[in-house]
Amino acid sequence: MTSKIAVLPAQVADQIAAGEVVERPASVVKELVENALDAGARAVRVAIEDGGRTLIRVSDDGEGMSRADAELALSRHATSKIRSAADLIGVATFGFRGEALPAIASVARCDLETSPDGRTGCRLRVVGGKVESVEDAVRQRGTTVTVRALFFNTPARRKFLRAQATETRAVVDAVTLLALTRPDVAFTLSSDDRVLLDAPPAAAPIDRVAALWSRAFADTLLPMAHREGPLQVAGFAQRPAQAKPAGRKAHVFVHGRRFSSSRATPWTSTCTLPSSRSASATGSSSSGWSRRRCGGRSRPSPPP
Ligand SMILES: Nc1ncnc2c1ncn2[C@@H]1O[C@H](COP(=O)(O)OP(=O)(O)OP(=O)(O)O)[C@@H](O)[C@H]1O
Ligand SMILES: [Mg+2]
Repeated sequence: MTSKIAVLPAQVADQIAAGEVVERPASVVKELVENALDAGARAVRVAIEDGGRTLIRVSDDGEGMSRADAELALSRHATSKIRSAADLIGVATFGFRGEALPAIASVARCDLETSPDGRTGCRLRVVGGKVESVEDAVRQRGTTVTVRALFFNTPARRKFLRAQATETRAVVDAVTLLALTRPDVAFTLSSDDRVLLDAPPAAAPIDRVAALWSRAFADTLLPMAHREGPLQVAGFAQRPAQAKPAGRKAHVFVHGRRFSSSRATPWTSTCTLPSSRSASATGSSSSGWSRRRCGGRSRPSPPP
């Protein structure tokens, strides 16, 4: 009897796996900006067109990659961030799976331009996961990833994209969240050449809140901080009279990662809690939020 089971071709398997990472333009932006932050960027520029369907471009001034690393970065499970399972405990970077770049590259037309030193650089062109060309390129230290025609080869996913304004809003939300975690890094976001977000490096977290949501809004917030043993929380709370019911600006971060839980909803609706996480692979620790690390395996407990 012939077998009913067959191993999927690598390209199909990659596309399925990509579905886990890349749901919509905002997920591409999140992954690429996280990579930029992990690379120690001091400035991250994001540009999108047509809500990210036509174009997403993320540029950074981080540590860049050599030609060999850039080629490897597009392979699944290729990462510079962990070496063994033991490294998973206390991982200090956003990424560690080695999934994001190959996933994005498998469902789009991508250009990856990078230089580790501002002298030598390269440009890789990848279409639907296949490397089409690798050539020398001159650029400053850092990396630019350009993603065109997202989901061009997965029409079912493309069909599920929402209206341009909805996708754009999701991208703004993704960049806003990451900009909140790293006030020390400059962020810009433009959509169809319109600047939607321009946040220069901020000396204090409240200045980042002001750059993202206006000084008038920032002035309504109350700073709060508490430390007990190895645990420390810091952030801002809204006065009840000024709190909006929808809570779109309510966020909790634990070690620099967004934390959300239905159990925590009543709490998060009035709090903005930044992290104490060392957010950069290069060990940069100047985000402005307190950086004392939580010890042990403590989990954030819900408020009384
Ligand atoms: N902007 C960048 N600057 C420098 N190196 C980068 C950049 N983006 C990716 N890399 C390198 O490419 C590797 C692969 O990136 P990718 O996002 O696919 O995986 P990851 O960040 O390690 O893990 P994850 O899949 O969880 O994001 C990274 O580990 C990093 O070494
Ligand atoms: Mg990554």
